[in-house]
Amino acid sequence: MIRSVVRGSGAALPRRIMKNADFEGMVETSDEWIVQRTGIRQRHVAADDETTASLGEAAARAALDSAGLTPADIDLIVLATSTPNNTFPATAVEIQNRLGMHHGFAFDMQAVCSGFVYAVATADLYIRGGLAKRVLVIGSETFSRILDWSDRSTCVLFGDGAGALVLEAGEGVGGVADRGVLAASLRSDGVHKDKLFVDGGPSTTGTVGHLRMEGREVFKHAVGMITDVIEATFAQAGITADDLDWFVPHQANKRIIDASAKKLGIAEQKVVVTVDLHGNTSAASVPLALSVAVADGRIKKGDLVLLEAMGGGFTWGAVLVRW
Ligand code: UT7
Repeated sequence: MIRSVVRGSGAALPRRIMKNADFEGMVETSDEWIVQRTGIRQRHVAADDETTASLGEAAARAALDSAGLTPADIDLIVLATSTPNNTFPATAVEIQNRLGMHHGFAFDMQAVCSGFVYAVATADLYIRGGLAKRVLVIGSETFSRILDWSDRSTCVLFGDGAGALVLEAGEGVGGVADRGVLAASLRSDGVHKDKLFVDGGPSTTGTVGHLRMEGREVFKHAVGMITDVIEATFAQAGITADDLDWFVPHQANKRIIDASAKKLGIAEQKVVVTVDLHGNTSAASVPLALSVAVADGRIKKGDLVLLEAMGGGFTWGAVLVRW
């Protein structure tokens, strides 16, 4: 059977780093509160010349380099983002043009923080369905542009950045020993739409709007939703937590990551944590965490890796990949 195999990975971060202490003169907060409640110590913030498209392009080029490929080898770009450069065209198409790629096709996916997990699952279907052979899957965000910088309950939490994978059609036998995407489980429920949203848009206010979140409400649902979808993914693949080599969760809050891993029985040393370095970068958080763990030699070819995310909508999902 056809499997969607990871051939390369890469990331890109804005030049400017903002430490927790940098907020202390702006809103009533402290480094101690932010670290204790979230695990975040710093985040990258995009300058005017750094956009979702430019960061996404840089991450895509890094992933292509690591795969030993060029844009000519790619036939589809799927970009997960909630902070596109423009309402339309899709920022994926802008990245396609920036890469000098004038063949194939490209589109954006909007599932907020779950965007990258949705995008990997979608790219896998395009590959297995025969519509694409090599796909650039990108998560790129500039949440700094939609933050209310006077709201301490949200502005300290988010950051900017991008990460990317190259997925390529390969051969498998249909078992859990195959390399590639092995299982996926996606969920959404719009009953929660007002707990985490942006208060503007083309069809309502005609503005871009700002991020609004009832953090405690999101927190309350997060661990249960994350663990449900992971258990569904384990059941599909016929594995248990013990079979995993690495757990790469969405990086929103260290307390949510720890509680999810504990509930699932995933050992602490298998959990990749980058929330301290990047904050919550929404759809970029999972591929950024992946790129860190690949670059430092933790994630290696053949490892069993579980990706997970939960965010606005709510949306949530998990993907199991043999690297
Ligand atoms: O990526 C999408 C998914 N998003 C998430 O997963 C976020 C989920 N939520 C969270 O991570 C947490 O709920 C937060 C980190 C947002 C907040 O942590 P919490 O432990 O739930 O705190 P809280 O909202 O219950 O607030 C506790 C107190 C409040 O003061 P009072 O009402 O107890 O007097 C807040 O006003 O902390 C206050 N507070 C702050 N204090 C200092 C809120 N933000 C800040 C701040 N600095 N930045």
